Amino acid sequence: MTTIEALRWPALEYRWGELHFEDVRLSQLAEACGTPAYIYSRRVLCDNYRAYEQALEGRPHLVCYAMKANGNLALLRILAELGAGLDIVSGGELYRARRAGVPADRIIFSGVSKTDREIEEALTAGILMFNVESAQELSVIADIAGRLGKVARIALRVNPDIDPGTHPKITTGMKTNKFGIDVAEVHDLYLDAARDPRLSVVGIQAHIGSQITSRRPHHDACERLCALLDKLRAEGVVIRYLSLGGGLGITYHDEQPPEIGAFVADLCAIVGDRDVTLIMEPGRSLVGHAGVLLSRVLYTKSNDCKNFVMMDAGMTDLIRPSIYDAYHPILPLRENNRPPQLVDVEGPICESTDVLARNRHLPQPRRGDVLAILCAGAYGFCMASNYNDHPRPCEILIEGDRWRLVRARETYEDLVRGEE
Ligand code: LLP
Repeated sequence: MTTIEALRWPALEYRWGELHFEDVRLSQLAEACGTPAYIYSRRVLCDNYRAYEQALEGRPHLVCYAMKANGNLALLRILAELGAGLDIVSGGELYRARRAGVPADRIIFSGVSKTDREIEEALTAGILMFNVESAQELSVIADIAGRLGKVARIALRVNPDIDPGTHPKITTGMKTNKFGIDVAEVHDLYLDAARDPRLSVVGIQAHIGSQITSRRPHHDACERLCALLDKLRAEGVVIRYLSLGGGLGITYHDEQPPEIGAFVADLCAIVGDRDVTLIMEPGRSLVGHAGVLLSRVLYTKSNDCKNFVMMDAGMTDLIRPSIYDAYHPILPLRENNRPPQLVDVEGPICESTDVLARNRHLPQPRRGDVLAILCAGAYGFCMASNYNDHPRPCEILIEGDRWRLVRARETYEDLVRGEE
């Protein structure tokens, strides 16, 4: 009997009772590479990227993937080949971006605490622009550019004071957040910057938060940026780029965010026929659904209050459930007809907050089962740590029915590298 059950998540389905990602049986990967393991789908990544490109077709634009969401070199190379730029936030990310072959003139640099060294490196590389987050940072960039005999291309990051209605730990565009420059202050700062020969004002940027599932917040932010753009242009300030940040949410559970195409179309309608290159900085919406984490059940135990399932992956591999109470769907690799059991899915780390799921109904898990933790492509591996001396997992890229290791599992040797 052939059973193919299509799931709600792209490229994932049960075929003959076995969970497949694209055309690869996931249990095969768990056997070949062990667990925990991150598995990525090239197809999902490319489809998401193309959705942005298609929606922006016909107007000057650049999709700068926010590589903090997942910086694996193989994924960056795929996106670079498709024409993507990158949004970076550190010297380390600049290094990684260059290693992946992304041209400097497609790189923009955000972040509230850029060091002098990072600024120098970015100026020397010749990046497209800095997204400047404070008046002080602006003057430091000008000084360093002057010293290097260069002109720094800059956008000011506006803090539009908009509540994006997302988890409070991932809002970035409210007055209480450290990000960006107050709307009231930004206009005068633009005029100062425009007069400074060491600076070239080229853009306006805002990023208001992450996992945003309604249209209103981006809509409002875009309107505010357009109003600022019009005002500055009327005063003779040249603005070539309008960067609307990232932040589009994805479905983890029952959220219903707009599709990428509709989301972008909305913003394009607001920008209208203004002559400006539109930059988007998506992270999660490109890679979130492109990754799953495989983890093995090591033990199960119950008391009169809870059923615990102890896994070989935890907060060191996927920290989102621990710090944002994030929901990640969990599926067994092999379909089975065991009765559903209400369980807490726990990691191996010596912290009570080390959890992958609480109060979840799963077909009764047993020692040795491998579970797939879905929607783990964004802010998964990149937020992993070595706490409790756990080596970080391997990463595997699937293309159709083929797969390859794109990052080896860390070893015990890796854990002590550089120590004496
Ligand atoms: N641009 C800037 C300046 C950003 O700071 C971010 C994300 C993005 C773009 C991409 O946002 P996205 O499209 O991925 O929403 N660790 C958290 C998310 C932190 C997001 C930080 N900034 C999580 O796991 O939910």
